[in-house]
Amino acid sequence: MKFLSHTPIIHISKPSADFYSVFSQAEILEIVQTLEVQREIPLKYSYKGRGAKIWDNFYLKYIIPTWYRKSNIEIDLLEANFEYINGNYQKCEKINIIDVGAGNSYPVKSYIDRLNKINKINKYIALDISEDLLKVSSKNIKKWFPLIDCANYRIDIENTCVPKNILENQHKKIANIFLHLGVTIANHQNRTQVFKNFRDSMNENDLLVFTNEIGSSSQWDGIARGGCKHHADQVYRWITNNIGIRREDCELVRKYDLATDSIVANMKFRQNYTINFSYLGIDKNIEISAGEEITIWRHHKFEITALIQEIEEAGLKLVHYSTNKYSSHLMMICEIENNS
Ligand SMILES: C[S@@+](CC[C@H](N)C(=O)[O-])C[C@H]1O[C@@H](n2cnc3c(N)ncnc32)[C@H](O)[C@@H]1O
Repeated sequence: MKFLSHTPIIHISKPSADFYSVFSQAEILEIVQTLEVQREIPLKYSYKGRGAKIWDNFYLKYIIPTWYRKSNIEIDLLEANFEYINGNYQKCEKINIIDVGAGNSYPVKSYIDRLNKINKINKYIALDISEDLLKVSSKNIKKWFPLIDCANYRIDIENTCVPKNILENQHKKIANIFLHLGVTIANHQNRTQVFKNFRDSMNENDLLVFTNEIGSSSQWDGIARGGCKHHADQVYRWITNNIGIRREDCELVRKYDLATDSIVANMKFRQNYTINFSYLGIDKNIEISAGEEITIWRHHKFEITALIQEIEEAGLKLVHYSTNKYSSHLMMICEIENNS
């Protein structure tokens, strides 16, 4: 009797030149290592290159206020908390706005406008991991506020503090307001490190202002909405095309992930794959078996008490928070712990 040996079919994929063109060598190394160990392509990298257009389009289609969608979480919460974030709280004459993860800067337009009218703005600084979103932000800010002093720099807030040399005017009468809007804190792999990096970037007069969704990720009703639906869809398409996985060989799965206590969007493989990363001296094969999933999008909701505990562990102290009218989201304002 003859036995047929079954050698499993393994597809080989090679990321495209377009994929490599938007990342530095260090970023490719981080992508490869995170994929190998944590089975994740961090969402932060999906805002670069074509990803910038994907975010801007998503924002302009689904988030920007229009006649039929009047309410916008960030704009409304910045408005509602204006008294805390206009320099009065710190008794400062002027403020620098340091918008970390600025995106297209649309959420801060009305806030800057209001501050500008009372002559409170010293400088607007946009920071982002994505050079292409910094270009979108800069174009918008220059168009809306041609006379405001502005600058932009590329940083990864998960890996580094805001460099002191860009925080010029360290001056008693000028405070820095660090913004981290768009529920971006929910998307990071290492939120604690991000809070610590903010804390280490701040001086006694400075404030950190961020938004997040309130509640428990584990209670998710299974219906994908907003970013989980439309942004994750586009990111999935961009990644599959750029790392060379055939459409029919994978599917997008959204679910609650206990290990990260987050809602995740995963790319589930239907075939065995070897992804060959070969770029600037990096030569690495990552094996992914049929049935395995890799995370490409994640979102962590916070219960308020857990969030306060997390900021305190990072050396930050709550100044004030408020929720939106549906109590689905909050804006939290913090200062450094040893301030009083
Ligand atoms: C969800 S969008 C929010 C954009 C904008 N703040 C808003 O509210 O519309 C996240 C933004 O943060 C940037 N970003 C994500 N991770 C980052 C990181 N680790 N360091 C710096 N920027 C990051 C993205 O490129 C993107 O512009």
